[in-house]
Parts: sequence; structure tokens; C-alpha cells
Amino acid sequence: EKITMSVIKADVGGLCGHTLAPEELLDAAEYVLENALDEILIDYYVTNCGDDIDLIMTHNKGTDSEEVHKLAWDAFEEATSVAKELKLYGAGQDLLSNSFSGNIKGLGPGCAEMEFVERPSEPVIVFCCDKTDPAAFNLPFYKMFSDPFSTAGLVYDPSMASGFRYEVLDVMEHKRVFMDTPEETYSLLALIGNTEKYAIKRVYRRKDNEITAVCSSEKLNMIAGEYVGKDDPVAIVRAQSGFPAVGEILEPFANPHLVAGWMRGCHFGPIMPVAEEDARPARFDGPARVMALGFQLSKGRLVGPNDLFADKSFDKAREKALDMAEMMRSMGPFMPHRLPETMMEYTSVPKVLAQLKGRFIDIDENCGCKIDQIRNRGDME
Ligand code: 13P
Ligand code: 13P
Ligand code: MG
Ligand code: MG
Ligand code: MG
Repeated sequence: EKITMSVIKADVGGLCGHTLAPEELLDAAEYVLENALDEILIDYYVTNCGDDIDLIMTHNKGTDSEEVHKLAWDAFEEATSVAKELKLYGAGQDLLSNSFSGNIKGLGPGCAEMEFVERPSEPVIVFCCDKTDPAAFNLPFYKMFSDPFSTAGLVYDPSMASGFRYEVLDVMEHKRVFMDTPEETYSLLALIGNTEKYAIKRVYRRKDNEITAVCSSEKLNMIAGEYVGKDDPVAIVRAQSGFPAVGEILEPFANPHLVAGWMRGCHFGPIMPVAEEDARPARFDGPARVMALGFQLSKGRLVGPNDLFADKSFDKAREKALDMAEMMRSMGPFMPHRLPETMMEYTSVPKVLAQLKGRFIDIDENCGCKIDQIRNRGDME
């Protein structure tokens, strides 16, 4: 029998500012899920990464189940009413619609789901992030499933030898393409190295088309028309026995990479692997965090979690991330710390340009600016 794992997340308010979803919100969400045990859910685990609430759920309803999505929506609404009562910052931030309609995608929350037959032993890792976007997984997914210097199993495990298939979204054109490694490695990298336009949605093992990874990659800018961008991502990865080992799935995060997000969703910075209790980004509202929760499924029951990045072996990665943060911060509002215009979550630049309208003067190739233009700033003649 197939079971489904659904990880659905939303930011419905922070204590204080954008730093943390407090216990009160998690309790409110958990209360709703608890009441759905047996009827809809087999099991659940509720946590948070920074100001994002993550609902980790198992059930038999398949992906895109209206019942499960409605349940998650109800849990977020319940948490929102508590957030409003406490006057938390950005209460209801990610609930972009006034009511639920069929599927939670497009209504604001992020969603990563996969359906599979539970193996005799089914280790899964759930990644939860804050202060970044789904394309933050492009680089680690590449390393996990295609880089033999990171995943030793690509060399030693014959069931991985035929490689992996990536489902890549073009988040601007709203299209997708399937690409295979190792044969199409260079073309794949040509796309996913552009984290503005492309995001990996799913990864399959080519030997048998078994799904191994899924990310909440539908960008909100595609949904809401303008870039609302509060798409701090979640991902699920199945481990071991023909998939990368747990440690191979975590290995890409031992060497932090730069991702978009951080302060006001407008900056590049490192992604820091942290334990659950350290997912409270405060330095310049960051830097970006990723948690990794390891579970063993037992007939859909979530045994665990093992808080994998709590391990001391990730201390060096955290130190390195902090050094990288320091380096990036020194750039202030300059690129490449600051994101390009098209990726910024908020920008005042169109307003600045509107104010300057009329003050832009043609560059005179022969004699530069006339002295009275300089005196009068061009617009006050
Ligand atoms: P153990 O010897 O601890 O079971 O580890 C085996 C292994 O494959 C680790 O990657
Ligand atoms: P979130 O996406 O986590 O809500 O953060 C937004 C922000 O503006 C941080 O400075
Ligand atoms: Mg927020
Ligand atoms: Mg957030
Ligand atoms: Mg965000």
C-alpha cells in the first residue's frame, strides 16, 4: 500500500518581527492536526524554522489531496487567529486568500509531497528553511544525486549507477523539463546554476523511476502576479538502499553556499545548517537557515525525529557560514550582497526612478554637461 508524506509550511506571524514562530502558534496548529489523526492523518510532527511553521504529515490520501490541504489550511488559520490575538508581526502573512479552495498551492503556503510504497526500512529527511527560496536546493540536490565526490554511493552502489532524473521548473515561463544525469550533467548545470529562473521540483532514481526528493518549488511570484516571495522552502528526501545515504544527503550542507533571501528577501548570503532550537535567525534577520529532521517511517508512523544538523560535525559549517555572512554584510546595499532588481522581494527603486524622472539628461558626447545643468540639477531650468 502506498503512503503519502506531505510537508506544508506557512509563515503566519513572528515573535518578534520575522525571527520566530512561537510555541503558541505551533500548539494551535498541532491541535488541529491532532483532531484529524486516524480520520485523515496517520501521523504528524509540527515544528518551525524561524518564522515558518512546518506541518510534517503522513496519510493514505495521495498527493494534492483536498482533505489534507484543507486540514493544513485550517491549522494555519487556527495559528493565525492566535497570532492576531498576540499581535505578532505579519499575522497571517502567507495566507494570501480569504478562504480555502481545493488545493493549498497558489494560496500562499509552500508544499512538498511524495507518494511511495514504504520500503522494509524507510529513512526520510525533511529539510525546513527560513530566509531563502526554493532554488536554494538546486546546488545541494545536484551534489546529492550527481556528484560522486559528495555522494560516494554513485560510485559504489550499482542501483545508483544509472543515475537520477531531475524535474526542473522554469519559474518564469511556468514550464518544466526532465533532465538525466550523468549524461546531461552540463546542460542541467547550465539551467539550475541560474537560481533566479530555475528550481528543481523533484528527483527520481532512473533505474525504476522511484521518487527520492521533492521541494516546495512553486514560486509565489508565479501565483500572485507580483513577487510576494515569502517562499521559504521545505523538502523531503528518501535515504539509503539505492538512494544516497543519510550522511550523503547532508554532506552538501557541510560547505555552505550562497542563497537569495536574508534581510527583506533582498540579499545573497550563506545558508547555515542548524539544529531545531537554533532556527531563530536574528543577525540582519538571518542568515538563512536549514534544518534536517531524520525520520524512520513505520507503516506511516513518523518515528523520530533525529535532529541531524545538531551534530557537532556541522560546527565548522556554521562557523564558515558566519564568516561568509560577515564578508557579505560588508557590502551593505551593493551587489552582489544585494539581489538584482528582478529578485528583490521589496524594492524602492521604481519609486526612486519615478522621482528622478525628468532629471535624467542625455549624455553629450562632445562637451559633457553644461555648467548650468549641473548648477540646476537638470530639472529646474
Ligand atoms: P555502520 O557500520 O555504523 O552501520 O555504518 C554503515 C554505513 O554504511 C555508514 O555510511
Ligand atoms: P520571511 O520571508 O521569513 O517572512 O522574512 C521576510 C523578511 O523581510 C526578513 O527580513
Ligand atoms: Mg515573516
Ligand atoms: Mg520565513
Ligand atoms: Mg521569505
